[in-house]
Amino acid sequence: MNSIRVPLRRAYRLLHPKLVTVIGASAHGETNFMPASWVMPASFDPPLLVAAVGEERYTLGLILDSGEMTVNPVGPDLIPLVEELGSLSGREADKASLAGTLAAEKVSAPCLPGALACIEARLRSTHPAGDHVLVVAEVVAARAWRCFDAETHAYREGCGPVYHVGGHTYMEPGRYVEWGRR
Ligand SMILES: Cc1cc2nc3c(=O)[nH]c(=O)nc-3n(C[C@H](O)[C@H](O)[C@H](O)COP(=O)(O)O)c2cc1C
Repeated sequence: MNSIRVPLRRAYRLLHPKLVTVIGASAHGETNFMPASWVMPASFDPPLLVAAVGEERYTLGLILDSGEMTVNPVGPDLIPLVEELGSLSGREADKASLAGTLAAEKVSAPCLPGALACIEARLRSTHPAGDHVLVVAEVVAARAWRCFDAETHAYREGCGPVYHVGGHTYMEPGRYVEWGRR
């Protein structure tokens, strides 16, 4: 059977598209945001999430120093902001002024204005993973601003987070498939 041999460095693309979030972090008077699509739930009880954060990201130091972070899923309307936040480092740019900030309830890290939701989390452990660090954090608060259904606890069809395909390509939220329903 014909197949496409995928270079090992690009094999991660077979696991994309991935939901786009923006991580917020704040330490020693510095506040920063970075887009991150390598973020996923890791445990129900306690509620844990894991983010793969590049070793050289300015945000990583802020998370490690404060022990806190926010994870903010975003909709397609925020693609321009995501592209800007992802093209600059907090070492050189004041990305908090660029994006604005919204106070979180339980952590010092800021929520991102305009995001669909804000998940607040406290650092539990870190694990080296090549050129990234796996940051495991416990969810201590979570609020959704829009698109999220309070009863089903699911994003409403067509109104959810945007997905990162790779490079500068994104995928809009699409149609749901209900198994067994015709
Ligand atoms: C859509 C998108 C998703 C990204 N996902 C990640 C990710 O999961 N982990 C990561 O370390 N960097 C990721 N990046 C790259 C960082 O956001 C980017 O390097 C950023 O400038 C780092 O900012 P900082 O140095 O201020 O922390 C992503 C960028 C974009 C645009």
